[in-house]
Amino acid sequence: MTQKAESWGTRMGLILAMAGNAVGLGNFLRFPVQAVQNGGGAFIIPYLISFLLMGIPLLFIEWSTGRYGGKFGNHSTPYIFDSMTKGRAWKYIGVFGIFTNIAVASYYCYIESWTMSYVYHSLIGTFEGMSQSQVAGFFNTYVDVASSSTGIPYESVVFYIVVLVLNTFILSKGLGGIEKVAKIGMPLLILFGIVLAIRGLTLGTSGASDLFPSANAWDGLNFLWTPQFDSLSNPKVWLAAAGQIFFTLSVGMGTIHCYAAYIKPKDDIALNAASAGFMNEFVEVVLGGAIVIPIAAGYLGLDWVLENAGFGMAFQTMPYLFQQWGTILAVFAGLFWFGLLFFAGITSSLAMGTPWVSFMKDEFGWSNNKSAWSFGLITLIVGLPTVIFYQQGVFDEYDYWGGTVGLVTFALFETIMFSWIFGIDKGWREINLGADIKIPTIYKFIIKYITPLMLLFVFLGSIFTPQGNDWTGNFSSLFSGNGWNLDNASIIKQITHAGIKEKIAMTTDINLIAELEDKIFYANLARIILISLFAYIGFMVYFAFLKRSKEGRVTI
Ligand code: ALA
Repeated sequence: MTQKAESWGTRMGLILAMAGNAVGLGNFLRFPVQAVQNGGGAFIIPYLISFLLMGIPLLFIEWSTGRYGGKFGNHSTPYIFDSMTKGRAWKYIGVFGIFTNIAVASYYCYIESWTMSYVYHSLIGTFEGMSQSQVAGFFNTYVDVASSSTGIPYESVVFYIVVLVLNTFILSKGLGGIEKVAKIGMPLLILFGIVLAIRGLTLGTSGASDLFPSANAWDGLNFLWTPQFDSLSNPKVWLAAAGQIFFTLSVGMGTIHCYAAYIKPKDDIALNAASAGFMNEFVEVVLGGAIVIPIAAGYLGLDWVLENAGFGMAFQTMPYLFQQWGTILAVFAGLFWFGLLFFAGITSSLAMGTPWVSFMKDEFGWSNNKSAWSFGLITLIVGLPTVIFYQQGVFDEYDYWGGTVGLVTFALFETIMFSWIFGIDKGWREINLGADIKIPTIYKFIIKYITPLMLLFVFLGSIFTPQGNDWTGNFSSLFSGNGWNLDNASIIKQITHAGIKEKIAMTTDINLIAELEDKIFYANLARIILISLFAYIGFMVYFAFLKRSKEGRVTI
């Protein structure tokens, strides 16, 4: 197994597929919300520093790790890590690189299905004449699976299955299928994004409504782009900024390793990695920041945006805001906006499918077709609870453990593995092999020391987040012998549902108690599914190990 079966057709195809992997719903839906919730200009500096000191180094690490594994015929992280280390346990750390993708894909494809459905509803004029609360109500009904009153019975389930089948079908066509979608989707997405961003930027005070007569689109941009240096000392903002960088670049996931494993052994990775990373940042900060915030601020006022920022915000507001541009323009804007989101989503979810597909092909000799459909089936089983029990919080639980904690944990492990186990000297040589640019040597130092330290800070900061995010206060309490008080947002308190239990203890309202107890039940259900998924992939890695041993393919 020293020969690679497949590789990317063209360099442009590879860069667009990698950029498509990174550019996703996170750029347009998650970034504006994170920025707004973390103080706008206060967010942007930690965000850009995290990009340079964690994002870029992790891109170099993951691209070179992937290409290295590919030389030995390994295309997913369990056996890529195995080929770089002597300890047998590393392949089980590599399980994250398949697990996270399936966990994230299962709820990510659900958002993708909303975008597809909203394209359809924009085209048939569903939102025509609706008030803002009616548009918001439409979304709430849509995700309430039991009430099938949006038009098509069980519409959210139907669109979810359609999106999964589409993803699976494209995956079954191999790398060529992914390249084709990226080559069509990425330019279209950028074109749609530019049109909408220009509209957002030229809105000025013309977006003001009777409800918010002094609203101004520029307020939104000023809020985002006026730097506030005092945020540098706020760990909460740092955690949010780092989390956004992981999610948006798709680092700490395993997708980049997998795509990079199909690069030819001596082809450049340095320039390619930097190009895909910067393309993602352009789309995120320039386009992502110039659409939702200014348009929403223009029509609804900055205070409203600040109060209502959330993941579903774009679905609850944008169709209404587009209506203010007249019927015809509203149809086009809806098509552009939700079409853009759809392309952004599918180029990322396809990437999430490839680690599993490659693993089954590498280890068990399955065909592309069989591997792809098995991905579709597993994702459907894991993902349906996020659709059916969306309002009960299963979706959020997946996003927290899969899309947040999972990424940081894996990124920390892989950085240690790369710099300290594989060795930074070998690693640096790998990064520079065939490079079309000269990477500043300072990055060798950053990758060895700064990135792991920053990741450790983010990791420990998330586990032990102090009460009220008051780090200074909690440190002085600790040193004066009064202990460390954990915040309910800390991972430790999340595990025990401390926040929900506190609310239960503080109320006598029987209905509210029942609702909160339900929340705990569904959160536990989500956790059982995720743990089972992790264990299942772990077993598959073990079976692959037994198979390799039998075939004499185990080198250590
Ligand atoms: N990187 C992908 C996104 O931003 C997952 O949505």
